[in-house]
Amino acid sequence: GDADRGEYPHYMLKEIYEQPETLANAMRGRLEADNATAHFGGLNLSAQQLRQVDRVIMTACGTSYHAAMVGEYLLEELARVPVEVEYASEFRYRNPPLDRSSVVLALTQSGETADTLAALRESKRMGHTTLAICNAVGSSIAREADGGVYLHAGPEIGVASTKAFTSQVCVLTMLALYLGRTRHLSSTQGQRIIDDLHALPETVRKTLACHDHVKRVAEKYAHAKNVLYLGRQYLYPVALEGALKLKEISYIHAEGYPAAEMKHGPIALVDESTPSVFLVPRGNVFDKVMSNMQEIKARGGPVIAVAGAGDREVAALADDVIPIPDVPEYLQPIVTAIPLQLLAYEIALLCGCDVDKPRNLAKSVTVE
Ligand code: G6P
Repeated sequence: GDADRGEYPHYMLKEIYEQPETLANAMRGRLEADNATAHFGGLNLSAQQLRQVDRVIMTACGTSYHAAMVGEYLLEELARVPVEVEYASEFRYRNPPLDRSSVVLALTQSGETADTLAALRESKRMGHTTLAICNAVGSSIAREADGGVYLHAGPEIGVASTKAFTSQVCVLTMLALYLGRTRHLSSTQGQRIIDDLHALPETVRKTLACHDHVKRVAEKYAHAKNVLYLGRQYLYPVALEGALKLKEISYIHAEGYPAAEMKHGPIALVDESTPSVFLVPRGNVFDKVMSNMQEIKARGGPVIAVAGAGDREVAALADDVIPIPDVPEYLQPIVTAIPLQLLAYEIALLCGCDVDKPRNLAKSVTVE
């Protein structure tokens, strides 16, 4: 009942604020300092099977699909395992030429999404090993997959997924560590990832301190009709997710794009009433994203930057900055997703929308 919301006016806000704990829960008992790796009780893969995995096909819908896209960057970079990501609703009707040694990984908060379940069943029928990353214990997908990893994030009530996304990305990071350590990742590299992950709940707690900045930004832009979300590499899927969050609960049109690709279309939308949210923490592509930001500024578009606290170069160019703590690039998807969840929430409130139960949407889509 409503009492579960505690001090929070909405489940969505409660779930956003739970993330330091839900991330700690996702990692509990799974990081192994001795061998500088991760382990999972329910994966049900023998060492032999594990070494034979030569490709991972990830399939999902909605926000879980965006987590899968982050997973592609994680597994390919940290574990050097080739990954493909496909919407479950597309995958289920294709007959892709897959090798038997391709593992199919379904990502789903509810474990009941009809298209994801159908994609999983179809994969089994084709003879693939199937795994699931799932939140709802005992759900259809959790039961039918050959093996899997639970998020342990607790029930997610808000229709717009928040804590499940960051937990999925966290589990994918641990999976990349695990697969990487059976391959080329050194124990020194593995240990560094473990240390970064141990610090993550506290980092996320600090990230939530951006909420006041987010409120000010929301007030400034709540009247917008279109919003662009732009990021590159690890943060391209987060741009998609930020746009989805805003659309879902505020009904404002938003588009997520790879920051460099926007000049091939979406830049035509840019004017003084169309803000762009840039994900621009320090990293490999920082300078490139800065020049993409410059292109938007030159066309009179307002720029909101999610960037490292105290980054003067970003502050000098952006109209507004939402400050986040510095983390290694592979953890930036989790840390940058949080201000975007808060931004969608605050804008939806200002627009008078029903944040927890947006029109036309269901928490779990159990029909095709
Ligand atoms: C619905 C929800 C989304 C969710 C998607 C996939 O559309 O509104 O928030 O991301 O389903 O759900 P799943 O339970 O499979 O992750």
